[in-house]
Amino acid sequence: MNDISNCRSFLYVPCNQQKYMEKIPSTTCDAVIFDLEDSVRLADKKQARKNLLGFGFEIVRKAREKVFLVRVNAVDSTFAEDDIRAAVSLKADGIVLPKSTARQVESADTIIQNSVDDGQDFVIIPLIETALGVQTIWETVNASPKVKGAQFGAEDFTRDIQVERTASGKEIEYARNRMTIACRAKNIAAIDTPFANFKDPEGLAEDTRNVKSMGMTGKTCIHPSQIDVVNSVFTPSEKEVSRARKIVNCWENHGSINDGVIVIEGEMVDRPIYQRAKNLLEKYNKKKENVV
Ligand code: COA
Ligand code: MG
Repeated sequence: MNDISNCRSFLYVPCNQQKYMEKIPSTTCDAVIFDLEDSVRLADKKQARKNLLGFGFEIVRKAREKVFLVRVNAVDSTFAEDDIRAAVSLKADGIVLPKSTARQVESADTIIQNSVDDGQDFVIIPLIETALGVQTIWETVNASPKVKGAQFGAEDFTRDIQVERTASGKEIEYARNRMTIACRAKNIAAIDTPFANFKDPEGLAEDTRNVKSMGMTGKTCIHPSQIDVVNSVFTPSEKEVSRARKIVNCWENHGSINDGVIVIEGEMVDRPIYQRAKNLLEKYNKKKENVV
């Protein structure tokens, strides 16, 4: 499976919409999140799960290069256990788990272990979308070795803290930062909430640049038109790559001997700067390998 931390774009696809599901192989998203939760109304829940195991299966077979996740219903709901079992039989890469704290992750982990003999690689991505979820993020990401990333959910979070969303996003800034730092400390993926206005690519690009600069590794999308914008923001530019190459070359040839400091084009380069450049190149090369 592709490392979740290398996935830039995660496309949500409601499983009650066959025409959306059929579109998946022609899209450029790195990962798909088949949705059984909030984009599917109560009356359609069972049909959506059936669709997942029907044409969902075909789609997974046709688009093997993508990561496939299933957003199941909350573990406290009557649907969760069957949803998780469906994700396991689909041979999806893992689940996205709504309204998570450590307790939800532990319950999901138990269901997974009871459903599959070798669930080693199956991942859990907790959705951090409540005040308690943000407050207890560290326990949540440590609740199971299956947690390989976390996703922030702004709509439920702002409902929970009882505020309106604003264009500046100041009401979600702290929660985004806090989740990202916890994910970075665990070296797992940090995935952002979707940008609801799918007809505003400029706004999406700005929002994505903002979360990339916080340290997030990917962003969810709700519409295919958002994918290339997100992919492009999370792909290092030629300029960034060539600067990183220069730093790594100069450091490895001159700077590393005494762990010292070198100067490149008038700017100081020390070890953390060299290591950042090296990380960028490693990530860039890995992405290229996956594309080839
Ligand atoms: N996944 C896959 N394909 C999608 C898609 C999605 N999420 N959203 C739209 N498409 C497809 C449509 O089928 C259409 O394909 P076509 O050109 O071959 O007919 C094309 O993309 C353009 O769709 P468009 O008509 O612009 O969108 P829409 O008005 O049908 O739908 C939304 C808009 C927002 C209702 C829809 O994109 C959607 O439901 N998104 C997912 C929402 C979701 O999952 N929410 C929960 C997570 S927060
Ligand atoms: Mg939600």
